[in-house]
Amino acid sequence: MDEPTRDSWNVATRNHNAHKGDQAQRLRDGVEILHQEEIALLGDIAGKDLVHLQCNAGQDTLCLARRGARCLGVDFSDEAIAFAKKLSEDAGIPARFELAEVVGWLHATEERFDVVFTSYGTTGWLRDLDAWARGVARVLRPGGVFVYVEFHPLVWSIGDDLRLSRDDYFQESPFTDPVGDYVAESGSGLGVVAVGETVANPHVATSWQHGFAEVLQSLIGAGLALDHVAEYPHSNGCRLLPSLVLGEDRRYHWPDGVARVPLMFSVRAKKPAAGPG
Ligand SMILES: C[S@@+](CC[C@H](N)C(=O)[O-])C[C@H]1O[C@@H](n2cnc3c(N)ncnc32)[C@H](O)[C@@H]1O
Repeated sequence: MDEPTRDSWNVATRNHNAHKGDQAQRLRDGVEILHQEEIALLGDIAGKDLVHLQCNAGQDTLCLARRGARCLGVDFSDEAIAFAKKLSEDAGIPARFELAEVVGWLHATEERFDVVFTSYGTTGWLRDLDAWARGVARVLRPGGVFVYVEFHPLVWSIGDDLRLSRDDYFQESPFTDPVGDYVAESGSGLGVVAVGETVANPHVATSWQHGFAEVLQSLIGAGLALDHVAEYPHSNGCRLLPSLVLGEDRRYHWPDGVARVPLMFSVRAKKPAAGPG
């Protein structure tokens, strides 16, 4: 367990939720937090056992539960898991939440699932993608489905000046920064109703660059069969660069006159009926 990274996520989670108003009420009102991409890729999840990896404060998990799945959310931030449990209770949407380091959990749990889901800012916090992918394959039942929607790793190379002035796409050594308040920076895209004070984050978090091919290769190497891969010219919810423009459906788009590169990707893979694990 990387404690500074966990502590950094605890502070960030507190900051993020401070901007989102009464989230239980919004859920009770039926507000949908999931995006079209994951809804379409997941399909009908009613009655299925679903685990949401790195679920943070559980908002997406509860929207998945509202679609009829029996949901478990896993995350290593105690702040996030405590918030998620309370949100589940206050919103009246049952789901289970477990505090755990995700890769260790994937290799230790005895539970098995029909669906494994993860999205929007997850594998960058994990060093060993092959171990992660093998764990995903391990907890899937034969015939089970893995769905992953993520910000495209190209984005981290693009500076605020829209030049390739930021991180090397092929960097292997880790990045060390506190988790920022990207929720405040994303406004209504990430459900901000009022930007109050953001508490300074004193904890340095460690993250890694994983290229698109590396993600796909890790899943192939774990014996999963990819049946869908896509790249998108927009970013759901998160204002990844200051010049992106908020459009319909909480999507941030490239401004006019810019040659677009992908801002997100998605992958769906199945565990073969006689697969590993
Ligand atoms: C960007 S958030 C994911 C948000 C998520 N898409 C949601 O539904 O809100 C990343 C999450 O990964 C968690 N995390 C980072 N490293 C982890 C690890 N090694 N094990 C478990 N959770 C981890 C953080 O606590 C944080 O909640």
